[in-house]
Amino acid sequence: MKITVIGSGYVGTTTAIVLASMHHQVISADVDRGKVEKLRRGVLPFVESGLDKLLCEMHGSGQLEFTSNIEAAIRDGQVIIITVGTPSLPDGRADLRYLQTVADTIAGSINEYKVIAVKSTVPVGTNRWLSEYLAEKIGTAELFDVVSNPEFLREGSALYDTLHPERTVLGGNSSRAMAILQEIYKPLDSGFILTDWETAELIKYASNAFLATKISFINEVARTADQVGADVTTVARGMGMDTRIGSQFLKAGIGYGGSCFPKDVKALIHTAKELGIDPKILEAVEAVNRTQTEYYLNKLTDVLLANAKKPWTIAVLGLTFKPDTDDQRESPAIRMVEQLLEHCIEIRILDPTIQMPTQTPWPDEPKIAVCSTIEETLSAADAAILCTEWEQFGKINWKETVPIMRHPILLDGRNYYEPEHMKAAGIHYIAVGRRS
Ligand code: UDX
Repeated sequence: MKITVIGSGYVGTTTAIVLASMHHQVISADVDRGKVEKLRRGVLPFVESGLDKLLCEMHGSGQLEFTSNIEAAIRDGQVIIITVGTPSLPDGRADLRYLQTVADTIAGSINEYKVIAVKSTVPVGTNRWLSEYLAEKIGTAELFDVVSNPEFLREGSALYDTLHPERTVLGGNSSRAMAILQEIYKPLDSGFILTDWETAELIKYASNAFLATKISFINEVARTADQVGADVTTVARGMGMDTRIGSQFLKAGIGYGGSCFPKDVKALIHTAKELGIDPKILEAVEAVNRTQTEYYLNKLTDVLLANAKKPWTIAVLGLTFKPDTDDQRESPAIRMVEQLLEHCIEIRILDPTIQMPTQTPWPDEPKIAVCSTIEETLSAADAAILCTEWEQFGKINWKETVPIMRHPILLDGRNYYEPEHMKAAGIHYIAVGRRS
């Protein structure tokens, strides 16, 4: 099958590489020439373990091609998979301008029947709109079918998730198009949900919003655990053993970030409001997430005020929104640093994906320093905050850091360490919803 994937972000690049490895003839198209050039050289434009190796393998196979000529890519593909970004507008709505551009390009280039699969996360009603818009612009609905095909991959395990999906959702009104896509995805051996456009679109938003809800729920429980001296990790374990609840996404911490949860929760809130529905739960999910960094920063500053003179030097361990990615979008660590700036003389950042200040949101902020070793980061620091649970931070010998730090205080924003180990190491340990 000849498949064109438009948009070479996380989802598009992973999808293109995996489909090529399944012996399809794949064209990956993006308007960003720099990105296309990198991919042509076999270099991924983001960090994603395992995917770089498969890209190199596919590079010489002749199965995978990268281009910035979107029109030609559309003409060549029998199936067009759209994976362009749908970022948040200031009012929370999804910005559909890239999808609109792709729709116009398809309308101007279509030459024969094509299945158009929308993998971008788009608000309910968008696939129906796209189908009607294309029919009007092209002058016929015979040349294409639109299928909603949401993607559920996680950054950091994008390749695994694409090769082992827990479900494949196809929404549309054409059994011909759905059958073609089912044939393509059959080797991945997942269950199929065949449904209409609106249901498929809502499955994606509801899934992400529910996972975000689990996180904000346990984060609120963590605040209660803090007050009563309970341990939220054990509470989560006890809850998770109930298969009706499930153990995943119950890790309390400084909140969720990334390119999906914050944006999708906001977009679903916006959709609900537009429909006259009061999205009470989703607004609470967002509010807990927004205030979680501040809540735990307050716990840290209480300890600091009692122990250290202002302005402080703070070590921040991890800036990405989670480990194994270089993605800083909506990272709670960034919110944490923003809130810290006014109290500090220096904020030292250590993150395996960051070598210089230009790789942070504060390239010209004199208070921000980027470090390369744990010793350099913690030296004479008044406190450290663990924001991202990178594996290498699990190997820190905290006992050895006590004489290096000015005040051996640690806020563990991901409950990455065990309180008793930290106590034994001589660290003043503050966790999220755990006795410390
Ligand atoms: C998410 C969804 O998991 C994926 O299905 C969807 O396609 C895109 O959005 P991703 O954003 O890559 O994937 O990351 P994920 O692993 O889900 O984590 C999101 C955020 O939640 C991270 O900041 C993480 O630290 C946080 N998180 C996750 C918690 O705070 N607690 C948890 O228990 C789980």
